[in-house]
Amino acid sequence: MNKRIDFPIDKIDPDDIGHNTSANPSFDGVLQARLSRRSILRGSVGTAAAAVFGSGALAACGGSDDTPAPAAPTETLLGFNAVGKSLADTVVVPAGYTASVLYALGDPLTAATPAYANNGTDSDFENRAGDHHDGMEWFGLSAAGLPSVTSVDRGLLAMNHEATTDENRSSFFLHANGGTSALPRPAAEVDKELAIHGVSVVEVRKTGAAWATVQASAFNRRLTTLTEIDIAGPAAGNALMVTRFSTTGTKTRGTLNNCGTGKTPWGTLLTGEENWAGYFTRPVGDNAARANDKSVTALNRYGRAEGAASRHGWESAGADDKYARWINARTGVSVDGSDDYRNELNGMGYIVEIDAYDKTKVAKKRTGLGRFAHESAAFGRLTAGQPVAVYQGDDSRGEYIYKWVSTANWDAADANPADRMATGDKYLDAGKLYVATFAADGTGQWVELSITTPAIAAYATYPFADQADVLVNARLAADAVGATKMDRPEWCSTNPANGEIYFALTNNSNRRVEPSGSSQMAPDSANPRVYTDIKGTSTSQQGNPNGHILRIKEGAAGSAAISFTWDVYLFGAESSASPGAVNLSNLTGDQDFSSPDGLAFSPSTGICWIQTDDGAFTDVTNCMMLAALPGQVGDGEKKTLTYSRTVGGPLTVDTYVGKPATANTLKRFLVGPVACEITGLCETPDGKALFVNIQHPGESTSQANIGDPTRYTSHWPGNAGYGAGGAAARPRSATVVITKNDGGRIGS
Ligand code: FEO
Ligand code: CA
Ligand code: CA
Repeated sequence: MNKRIDFPIDKIDPDDIGHNTSANPSFDGVLQARLSRRSILRGSVGTAAAAVFGSGALAACGGSDDTPAPAAPTETLLGFNAVGKSLADTVVVPAGYTASVLYALGDPLTAATPAYANNGTDSDFENRAGDHHDGMEWFGLSAAGLPSVTSVDRGLLAMNHEATTDENRSSFFLHANGGTSALPRPAAEVDKELAIHGVSVVEVRKTGAAWATVQASAFNRRLTTLTEIDIAGPAAGNALMVTRFSTTGTKTRGTLNNCGTGKTPWGTLLTGEENWAGYFTRPVGDNAARANDKSVTALNRYGRAEGAASRHGWESAGADDKYARWINARTGVSVDGSDDYRNELNGMGYIVEIDAYDKTKVAKKRTGLGRFAHESAAFGRLTAGQPVAVYQGDDSRGEYIYKWVSTANWDAADANPADRMATGDKYLDAGKLYVATFAADGTGQWVELSITTPAIAAYATYPFADQADVLVNARLAADAVGATKMDRPEWCSTNPANGEIYFALTNNSNRRVEPSGSSQMAPDSANPRVYTDIKGTSTSQQGNPNGHILRIKEGAAGSAAISFTWDVYLFGAESSASPGAVNLSNLTGDQDFSSPDGLAFSPSTGICWIQTDDGAFTDVTNCMMLAALPGQVGDGEKKTLTYSRTVGGPLTVDTYVGKPATANTLKRFLVGPVACEITGLCETPDGKALFVNIQHPGESTSQANIGDPTRYTSHWPGNAGYGAGGAAARPRSATVVITKNDGGRIGS
């Protein structure tokens, strides 16, 4: 989620936060010029910014193996007709395709759970689909109900339920009258909201041509904000993890704000905890209660300054520990925090591993991979005898890109292990965490975040105690080594054709060329654009409103490499925007998009699916999904952007733009209903069923209008014939399954 233009201030998504006040290297500059592409089109430019182009192709690189299955003789990938931009309250897919609603908020997960009434009276959300469907992975099942990598008609969907559509604290579509905004919030409302966050596992089957969930499946499962989860990896048992709930620092309750996903090579789900910090409150006076120790520095860096209010006010619902734990404060007398929740925030912010096939297995927070606002977790290409790499982004303005490298070398026998969670212990608990720096020459470095790294060992801002402290406070460690501030890293994914890793950088309203000359987020080579985008007739969106997709090619050491080359595969833009400064990838009307977020390569076709969570281009189109057949790092050219300044002369920024897409290599495939985000996808191994999540349709509805369905901004999927309520239904996040009417692979 990243809406920040459409809604009242109290509906600004907590995603769009920035707490990185470190002075890491970036180009300084003075703003002079704000470029409005629409203003240019209208011939009414304010101050102008010039963009000057140089050229100089990066060395071509390539080589490919592990190539996806070639297209069948009659199949042309991206052979469909592009979908046009749309503001309709429906899911639009190309001619010849069908999108069917499969699994929506509140759908029952046991035989005894009643159908979802969708009028605010429903209960028992521990046995229903959660809200805000997000990242999702497929886990095949054989006819006998055993794990299968080949099954194409029976499997489990394991998916994130990131958040809930809220205003003034209340998840208003969940409560009959829109819910209670004032504190204290009623426990009955809070209990629903605690349960609709987390993860669900649901069995799906194909009968004939139709997919459906299996309501009574023994595999169906929910994890919520209250599910017990083990702390695994270097921080397990560390002093930072001690709470009243776990005085040994070895477990916590719940997983929260689950955004992107990953699937391990050994067959488990990885789920990323993103904007968890905003669910906690920290009262005024807590800094003093902590004697202003270094924990205050850490809490501020992660977004919980003293006095911070919680998103939903869950802490107000009563004295029960399940509410009290949301107060992140030192209230006890213990030295170690075993009598309060001063350390509770340290239990969130991880990649969590879940065995979707086995509900008896306790999930594990993999602390080795670092604590931040996680999105997806993408495995680098596997090589037997070499370490396993996991790529990750931290989605907040100006945060970083990370890589985990396992100590253990990959053993192909681990692709089908007897104990999947134990295999996770092997590859995800021992290893090294790195953060990325990007240089202006198109190269980059992975810098190890270790207690022995000199800049970390000597970091005066936050004296690290041990390696667990480095991982739990990875943002501070990354600050210490001068990591490159990025334009909100969302999903990442590895191109199966060549092993290059793609990162969606969704947008950054803080990227600036400042008049003061001391901007902490001036444009740099990897985040080179600063411009003004006009939405509607007057709303001015600054920084990098449309985002870009960056990709890296690891050095010769592959997953273990500490240097890489990079370029920008695509810049988001409107097709009508200035090709010299904004539409640097020359997108056409069949290709233009804004705010890339979900991004995943199809293992079957190799298509790169790009999904948007946008608030900048939504005057023209709802959020969308595009299909791409990208090339490789270095296939384009160097471009130099020049920003005029009143002081110090022009600021020039070199960047590297991938080869422009053609009509055959990038096409819009899907547009969603009103005020949704498109996010999360997975497919059957034959590539013939693609599951996609539609998150928060109707998010722009006002809580005050809950009694008047005519004022809901979306009625999807009720208006598509799914569930109760029909064309007047409350909108629901939902999974759709996309099939091709001729039985072909999706994207052909
Ligand atoms: Fe949950 Fe950054 O998207
Ligand atoms: Ca996301
Ligand atoms: Ca716009």
